[in-house]
Amino acid sequence: MSILKITGGKPLSGSIRINGAKNSVLPILAATLINGGVNVLHNCPDLKDVTSAIKILEHLGCKVKREGKTITVDSSVVSRCDVPDSLMREMRSSVIFLGPIIARCGCAVLHTPGGCELGPRPIDLHLSALEKLGVSIENEGGNIVCKAGDMKGRDIILSFPSVGATENIMLAAIACRGATRIINAAREPEIEDLQQFLKKTGASVNGAGGSEISIIGGRAYFDTEHRVMPDRIEAATYLCAAAAAGGDVTVEDCESEHIGTVIERLTEGGADIKVSGRSVRIKVSDRLKSMPPVRTMPYPGFPTDCQSQLMAVACTAKGTTVFTENIFENRYRHTGQLERMGADIKVSGRVAVVEGVERLKGAVVTATDLRGGAALAVAALGAEGCTVIEDIYHIDRGYEKMEQSLASLGADAVREE
Ligand code: EPZ
Repeated sequence: MSILKITGGKPLSGSIRINGAKNSVLPILAATLINGGVNVLHNCPDLKDVTSAIKILEHLGCKVKREGKTITVDSSVVSRCDVPDSLMREMRSSVIFLGPIIARCGCAVLHTPGGCELGPRPIDLHLSALEKLGVSIENEGGNIVCKAGDMKGRDIILSFPSVGATENIMLAAIACRGATRIINAAREPEIEDLQQFLKKTGASVNGAGGSEISIIGGRAYFDTEHRVMPDRIEAATYLCAAAAAGGDVTVEDCESEHIGTVIERLTEGGADIKVSGRSVRIKVSDRLKSMPPVRTMPYPGFPTDCQSQLMAVACTAKGTTVFTENIFENRYRHTGQLERMGADIKVSGRVAVVEGVERLKGAVVTATDLRGGAALAVAALGAEGCTVIEDIYHIDRGYEKMEQSLASLGADAVREE
């Protein structure tokens, strides 16, 4: 099993170019099923979850070619409508294939997505919305069996602005007669990127980025070419890395307004951050001070996907920083691992109180989930001595060769098989 070995204490310097966004390329790959044509996607990150999504597309009958950062999906032939359990298990977010498979095939069979490291991952919002659009859904021995009836567009009100549910409704609504409006839609930037892709296929989708999205189904489709947006969570992660290690780092190809809440917290902690165009430069020379309370919220609030990385920074800030995790039930599994490095964190339900200590100490720790693993790498960069991070397959799901990125900034970071 691979491990990441990081010896802390070296300030970071230099610049790093951000890869394409995992949480944008995954729904867009699923959406390539809809136009039954050729889709050329640029700036695709080389991640395990992307490989899993490609396996699903090939299982369904698509021809997929990956050349560097470009993935070409020819969805002219789709011969099946099921996603097998093995592939569902590989990637929890494969539920995003439900809408496009129904839109293309009129039916879909998915194995119930298991929970994941973040706790139960219910899909009730996805299923109830699809039923309102005319899909009949049965649970047959652990499989979700969907059959499209008379698919008619209508208003769908989401009780929670779920990212995945918003995306699934957008994709299923394309096959509906008439108009669908998603009210209380998720506003994440990745949904805007999906809308841009869908417009290029000829679909009528408008309003993404706001809380009301309108889709008019039944349009003609075209082949597409699209460049996936940069990964805002990866950008925020490397800003946190520089904050924890100290130094002078520029993050390139980053939409700073997509991570404004993270930049704001780091600035309040004492980091010197300057934005110019699509570059964000962070300079940290002294120990940061504690930050105002961090409450994770749906976009444009503080992103839950950056909670653990900022917590790693707070572990050595002067004073107390309070975190409240409002999005996922179980997103503090990294705190126990940070405590192994000497962090002082008290968790009670959704609240974690971090008392900053002078310095963390290197230790052998285990990645518990994707962003929790990233937090351990962030913490290790500022820690005294060597940290060994095990189970780094979690990190590989969302970061392309993290050790190389960190080493390119001067960190002593290596991967050992
Ligand atoms: C997407 O997950 C992202 N994943 C997550 O990123 C991100 O943390 C999350 O959105 C929130 O921003 C991808 O885009 C692939 P949700 P998703 O539906 O769609 C509950 C990462 O680290 N819920 O907005 O699964 C759910 O349990 C990953 O890159 C229901 O109750 O998130 C959670 O508590 C982690 N019923 C909350 O809503 C439903 O039907 C947010 O879920 C759906 C969701």
